[in-house]
Amino acid sequence: MKTRVGVFFGGISVEHEVSVISGLQAIDAMDLNRYEPIPIYMAKDRTWYTGERLTDIEAYKDLDGLLQEVQKVTPVAADNGGVVLQKKPVPKFGKRDVAQIDVAFPVLHGTFGEDGALQGFFELLNVPYTGCDVAASGAGMDKITMKQMLRDEGVPVLEDVWFYQHQWAEQQEALQSKIEENLGYPVIVKPANLGSSVGIGIARDSGSLESVVEEALTFAPKLVVEPLISNLTEVNCSVLGDPEEMKTSALEEVLKTEDILSYADKYQGGSGGKGDQSGTKGGSGMESTDRIIPAPVSEELSEEIRTLAKDTFRILGGSGVARIDFMIDKKDEKVYVNEINTIPGSLSFYLWEPVGKDFTALTHEMIQLALKRERNRERLTFSIDSNLFSLQGNNNGKGGKQGGNKR
Ligand SMILES: Nc1ncnc2c1ncn2[C@@H]1O[C@H](COP(=O)(O)OP(=O)(O)O)[C@@H](O)[C@H]1O
Ligand SMILES: [Mg+2]
Repeated sequence: MKTRVGVFFGGISVEHEVSVISGLQAIDAMDLNRYEPIPIYMAKDRTWYTGERLTDIEAYKDLDGLLQEVQKVTPVAADNGGVVLQKKPVPKFGKRDVAQIDVAFPVLHGTFGEDGALQGFFELLNVPYTGCDVAASGAGMDKITMKQMLRDEGVPVLEDVWFYQHQWAEQQEALQSKIEENLGYPVIVKPANLGSSVGIGIARDSGSLESVVEEALTFAPKLVVEPLISNLTEVNCSVLGDPEEMKTSALEEVLKTEDILSYADKYQGGSGGKGDQSGTKGGSGMESTDRIIPAPVSEELSEEIRTLAKDTFRILGGSGVARIDFMIDKKDEKVYVNEINTIPGSLSFYLWEPVGKDFTALTHEMIQLALKRERNRERLTFSIDSNLFSLQGNNNGKGGKQGGNKR
């Protein structure tokens, strides 16, 4: 029997539309001899839908019409393992379940999709899922946690100052001095756990720092401030595997049109033409960003980036496919890891094609990695079968009095 793969896409983040594109691309790529992909769309109001028509990108132009034609569902744990998509509301008579899935394949970017929330949902449903687990997703999404883990292992990341909203409200002057002393202007201010350049701003003096911080705080309660690299080259590398065995993709140089790579640059195609490998602009997902593949960097630098990409993936506990983004300071050719994207746009398929791995092979490997993680876990014991409460009775209540002697 074919493995039934639930492909989850949509979601509540600003990257909703990008996720729809990435999700449909993944469904389109799947090897139908091995897998039966089942589309599962999360609308912006957090309801789930399934149905064939969800695989037609054109149908999303009339979203209300589309949602009338597909089935509202709730993913619930099946009695025989896996997950069933149950009609919502559950009908009193007739068939309750629309489909069953053996593996979950999340392609939701950003909040809830990439940060461990959805992964936690799959854990509780007890279904194997592709990509990073809860901890790796959470660590990868929070720029502060991520940088601290990498820094601790000697991976080059930019120095920073980070703080919560309440700290800024209470000790703005002290924080401002810390930023000026430790980093100096210009600086870049980022929300700690968003993506797609949302809320990011540049400050060139103390006056603009205040307004940029206030602006960023409207998007997130925790910010990170870094020195701005004025003469910047951005190079990305995808990694596929798990901490035991990893492969790296071709490198891309991402071209930008403004001071920072903006949401429009990333997803709508920036200045036009140059280096665009996909031919289509707008609506074609992350692969439409202006880029040069392979990145025009020296063999030596490219080797350094590949090694750092694998180190980053391993340290954060990555699994499946991720994209590690680098910043190169052209002034001294110094390389810094900027961030990991644990569910990259278009799953970075366009970086794997040049090294001989097509999107079909990529989705196959991702599913196999999910099943490998599941097998490894089955070897571990999660719970002890005996009931400690029933043991207490046999012991004449001993131990109960001492109150939860946790070991
Ligand atoms: N320290 C920096 N110096 C210069 N530009 C930066 C710096 N950090 C980020 N940028 C620019 O801002 C963009 C978005 O920042 P990033 O940290 O990748 O956030 P996001 O998670 O929103 O993608 C980067 O792609 C880059 O163009
Ligand atoms: Mg980025």
